[in-house]
Amino acid sequence: MRVEEYQELVSRLFEGIRDADTRKAYQEVFDADTVATIFKLIDDGYIKELGGVISTGKEANVFYAVDRTNSPLAVKIYRVNTTEFRHLWKYIEGDPRVRIKKRSRRSLIYQWARREFKNLETAVKHGVSVPFPITHRKNIVVMEYIGDERGPAPLLKEVLPKDVEEFRELLLDSLSRLYYDAGIIHADLSEYNVLVWEDKPFLIDMGQATTWEHPLAYEFFYRDMNQLVKMLKRLGVNITTPHEAIRLLKERVRR
Ligand SMILES: Nc1ncnc2c1ncn2[C@@H]1O[C@H](COP(=O)(O)OP(=O)(O)OP(=O)(O)O)[C@@H](O)[C@H]1O
Ligand SMILES: [Mg+2]
Repeated sequence: MRVEEYQELVSRLFEGIRDADTRKAYQEVFDADTVATIFKLIDDGYIKELGGVISTGKEANVFYAVDRTNSPLAVKIYRVNTTEFRHLWKYIEGDPRVRIKKRSRRSLIYQWARREFKNLETAVKHGVSVPFPITHRKNIVVMEYIGDERGPAPLLKEVLPKDVEEFRELLLDSLSRLYYDAGIIHADLSEYNVLVWEDKPFLIDMGQATTWEHPLAYEFFYRDMNQLVKMLKRLGVNITTPHEAIRLLKERVRR
């Protein structure tokens, strides 16, 4: 892309953003390529308009957007230039589904976003409660927005569902489906990566999620199960070991 074209695109994208935090969140992720990628998604009709920021994190910023029918979307944009990415290799190298041709930061991040999308797709196919994946391109994942006009769904870290028992059942059902039916290990399971919406759990943040063939699969799995013990305690289940958590998932496997 020529410099003038890029400047034109950026000024179109930044038009009308007055809020300082939103402006900063945009600046963190919008290098020339990412701007071009967003415009491609707009041209292809996936996104009509990009809006305010939902979250700014270490690896990605998540933005609110709408599609052509004004349905809300969550647009997760991985940072290409401002990420400490070295620690991510160990999550992706052993995944047989991923082939990285070039050992560059950019190709890692692209594969990361692609894998997050694929993980969401596989999860949906197996009935796991996740935001519905819409599309992905380069460092961007577009998915269903969970929340309403007042804001995104809160994290399990921040709220407790009203019907704890029902929520717990849905959470265990989804996790059982994810690990045993879909064969995917989340690898960053925690109260920060479960949204609570209309008393239902939604699992998010699947970029690092891998399969059982990964050489570190069991390490990731046990770490997740330790987190599950913590979550279940807050949800009124008194278990203390990862093995008990595993049993609760295995009990729910559909034969
Ligand atoms: N589909 C969604 N609908 C509503 N909110 C979302 C959605 N996806 C993500 N979020 C919000 O954005 C936050 C960050 O998303 P996510 O956990 O996927 O990114 P992250 O990888 O943790 O980011 P980082 O590690 O860089 O902090 C979530 O905690 C949640 O508040
Ligand atoms: Mg997260």
